[in-house]
Amino acid sequence: MTAATWIIIALAFSHNFLALATKIEADALRRSGWWPSYITSNTSVSHCTWLGNSCNDYGSVVEINISQQDGNCYYRLSNMNYSLLPNLSSLQLSGYCLTDIIPLQICALPKLRHLNLSTNYLTSELPLCLQNLTTLEVIDINYSGINSLIPHELGNLKRLLYLDLSFNYLNGMIPTTLAKLKNLVQLYLQGNSFSGSVPSEIGNLTNLAYLSMEENTFGGSIPSKIGNLKRLIYLDLGYNSLNGMIPTTLAKLKNLAQLYLQMNYFSGSIPS
Ligand SMILES: *[C@@H]1O[C@H](CO)[C@@H](O)[C@H](O)[C@H]1NC(C)=O
Ligand SMILES: *[C@@H]1O[C@H](CO)[C@@H](O)[C@H](O)[C@H]1NC(C)=O
Ligand SMILES: *[C@@H]1O[C@H](CO)[C@@H](O)[C@H](O)[C@H]1NC(C)=O
Ligand SMILES: *[C@@H]1O[C@H](CO)[C@@H](O)[C@H](O)[C@H]1NC(C)=O
Ligand SMILES: *[C@@H]1O[C@H](CO)[C@@H](O)[C@H](O)[C@H]1NC(C)=O
Ligand SMILES: *[C@@H]1O[C@H](CO)[C@@H](O)[C@H](O)[C@H]1NC(C)=O
Ligand SMILES: *[C@@H]1O[C@H](CO)[C@@H](O)[C@H](O)[C@H]1NC(C)=O
Ligand SMILES: *[C@@H]1O[C@H](CO)[C@@H](O)[C@H](O)[C@H]1NC(C)=O
Repeated sequence: MTAATWIIIALAFSHNFLALATKIEADALRRSGWWPSYITSNTSVSHCTWLGNSCNDYGSVVEINISQQDGNCYYRLSNMNYSLLPNLSSLQLSGYCLTDIIPLQICALPKLRHLNLSTNYLTSELPLCLQNLTTLEVIDINYSGINSLIPHELGNLKRLLYLDLSFNYLNGMIPTTLAKLKNLVQLYLQGNSFSGSVPSEIGNLTNLAYLSMEENTFGGSIPSKIGNLKRLIYLDLGYNSLNGMIPTTLAKLKNLAQLYLQMNYFSGSIPS
């Protein structure tokens, strides 16, 4: 056989292989029940065109965003077989629909960069296995009913730029391992039941621009290391039980545009 024939055979095989991979993926999406049957029943319509989906050039799904899809609130997180979506990089399921737990299987998404489960009625904890999603850059689980500690292992997500866990029922101390998230630019922990002190390790997050920790029950004093956060634009520590003096190191935050410290038990004078 000529080289050209071999190439044609190879192309035919790879084409079939691709088609099979895409079909397995489409079937997984179909079985999930996340889209109404009038959309999924026509098998000649590609899953790439279903509402909220985007695919790569190979017809493999890279984004699912059924955030504000009116009228479809029947989908459940645990009905998806995530291990059949190897290329998914963005999963956005926001908006008063989810009432189940965060299933461990969600941690089988090797390329996930963006996870948005905000504004839901989730009933679970933050699963430990989230540590395995090391490609994550954005986590938004704001206002979603999550009730647990922050697992120490979250500190393994080294690529995180954005972490929003605000307005949940999270409690316990802030794990000092969060100081390993060196790339973090925005950190929102407000509106939970965190206690203990504001860890001085927070001073390691030198890329932070936004830090919100208000409306918790943090005690102790503000760590002076907070003065290491040179890029800070926004700092809110209001509505806690913080005490002691306001650290003079705050003066090192030359970029700070908004500072909220109200409703605490500070003493002494305001540093000039
Ligand atoms: C399925 O979709 C194809 C392509 O859009 C369309 O031509 C066909 O009429 C549809 N079949 C049904 C039963 O709706
Ligand atoms: C995932 O995308 C790659 C290309 O980046 C492609 O080769 C592969 O077939 C896709 N996987 C599936 C299951 O479609
Ligand atoms: C997700 O969908 C909503 C509603 O259609 C849209 O407003 C939002 O911009 C989308 N998000 C992304 C990341 O595409
Ligand atoms: C998900 O798909 C994998 C691979 O085909 C399979 O081994 C596994 O049993 C499936 N899980 C569920 C819950 O269907
Ligand atoms: C998450 O989704 C909601 C609803 O679409 C949107 O308002 C919010 O900005 C998203 N969060 C992130 C970090 O993109
Ligand atoms: C996460 O990774 C650890 C090892 O780093 C492994 O033992 C564990 O089974 C993984 N968990 C999941 C749910 O993938
Ligand atoms: C979190 O959700 C609330 C309520 O939907 C919203 O007001 C807020 O802007 C969201 N983001 C942050 C960072 O608080
Ligand atoms: C924080 O930074 C200090 C000094 O650079 C270092 O000794 C410490 O190990 C860091 N802590 C974490 C949790 O990364």
